[in-house]
Amino acid sequence: MLKICCIGAGYVGGPSCAVIAFKCHDIKVTIVDLNQARIDAWNSDRLPIYEPGLDEIVFARRGKNLFFSTDVDEAIREADLIFVSVNTPTKKSGMGAGMAADLAYIETATRRIAQVATTSKIVIEKSTVPCRTAQSMRTILEANSTKGIRFDILSNPEFLAEGTAIQDLFHPDRVLMGCLQTPEGLAAQQKLVDIYSRWIPRERVITMNLWSSELSKLAANALLAQRISSINALSAICEATGADVDEVAYACGTDSRIGPKFLKASVGFGGSCFQKDILNLVYLSEQLFLPEVAAYWKSVVTMNEYQKMRFTHRIVRTLFNTVTNKRIALLGFAFKKDTGDTRESAAITMCSYLIQEHAQLAVYDPKVPPKQIIADLIEPGVGTNEVEVKKHVSICSSAYEACVDADAIVICTEWDEFKMGALDYQRIYASMNKPAFIFDGRLILDAPKLREIGFKVETIGKST
Ligand code: UDX
Ligand code: ADP
Repeated sequence: MLKICCIGAGYVGGPSCAVIAFKCHDIKVTIVDLNQARIDAWNSDRLPIYEPGLDEIVFARRGKNLFFSTDVDEAIREADLIFVSVNTPTKKSGMGAGMAADLAYIETATRRIAQVATTSKIVIEKSTVPCRTAQSMRTILEANSTKGIRFDILSNPEFLAEGTAIQDLFHPDRVLMGCLQTPEGLAAQQKLVDIYSRWIPRERVITMNLWSSELSKLAANALLAQRISSINALSAICEATGADVDEVAYACGTDSRIGPKFLKASVGFGGSCFQKDILNLVYLSEQLFLPEVAAYWKSVVTMNEYQKMRFTHRIVRTLFNTVTNKRIALLGFAFKKDTGDTRESAAITMCSYLIQEHAQLAVYDPKVPPKQIIADLIEPGVGTNEVEVKKHVSICSSAYEACVDADAIVICTEWDEFKMGALDYQRIYASMNKPAFIFDGRLILDAPKLREIGFKVETIGKST
């Protein structure tokens, strides 16, 4: 029986390897992590990650050919293929702080493989990494492979998006793989191609050299984020001119060269990947003495920060230039709908700005646990401390509860349950202070209908 080990039971490793187990019953998949609580959750009825369709897949294969464990060494020892899916956060201090990826977790995992492996392994980079990380991994593995065993390294970046992870893994646009173009590298790559080809049409499994594969992952995320910053930049022009950003996006998106996707203006992109990967690209460009290239990509992040600030300023301005002690219902805290993930969520920055303006925030999100919301707001660097957060933030258990006695509602995440048919806005209006304002940061509401109810509506990318 072919055995796969996945190091890192996070948002990437968990779903992607669970799907391999689901699709290939004859492969034993063991997902390991140092975090005992996370592994316990994977082994319980309440998985640590909310992702539509994930429960069914895990419950169907767990204990059969899918295992979750903290015994990292044993899983490495018995595996033929090892996915490295550990976190690669942006460095907080030292060289490249605030930009470069922290590769400490990758290195620790790689050293562990080198230390405990007793047979040859195919080691697969799954985490998004800076270009040429495979080279460092290879050096570490080879320096430690005194036992006459071979390590082949593949790059196999993951393109799943949260909220649609299972669909993306079942029907990916493409699976990308890179290897050293040697007979051994190509043979190792073929083993991985054979696994994916069991459910993905072969022409969608793309192979290339290692460095192209590593860079393509950064490039794809940078291009997607750049589209969002572009439409967000246009949203500012729309608000000032009377143009409507939805109409502009539609008009541009119907050009088949541009395409309609990723042109939804918003309060700003979030998630664990976009900002991190762009900053990675900026750092790489600087290291390569390409300052103009670095500045170009940096501007995508600058525009995103500007968008969050701009929308918050619009809220304060509209509420008669002060939000001091006003109750503001903040609907949605996750960085997008259908996930409980809050990493880099625009809601965090907006809350921080509004707390600094002394607003009273009533936050509701269908999937983010209250503990997480508080933890995010007191995280160093966010700009608000524990005392301020305690004083200014209350977490609510429904949208209705958050809106009672509020002066304004701010839609931060596009959850379906906030849409017009799903929430009774008439009831909400009746429970609010008047004038009742609503700020749609996600373009999900029907402004004319809300105005009929009596709301004063402000929408991103539209003038009032
Ligand atoms: C992204 C990439 O899409 C995925 O391929 C990669 O593997 C990981 O990074 P993810 O971060 O999960 O996935 O979510 P995505 O759907 O890309 O959204 C990222 C952010 O952009 C969210 O905050 C979302 O709300 C925002 N967004 C997206 C917009 O503001 N407008 C859009 O049109 C699309
Ligand atoms: P991603 O979104 O990239 O999947 P996460 O932070 O959700 O990132 O998951 C990465 C996981 O990797 C974490 O649960 C972390 O505990 C785990 N991890 C990091 N280093 C190691 C290691 N050396 N061995 C095992 N697990 C690790």
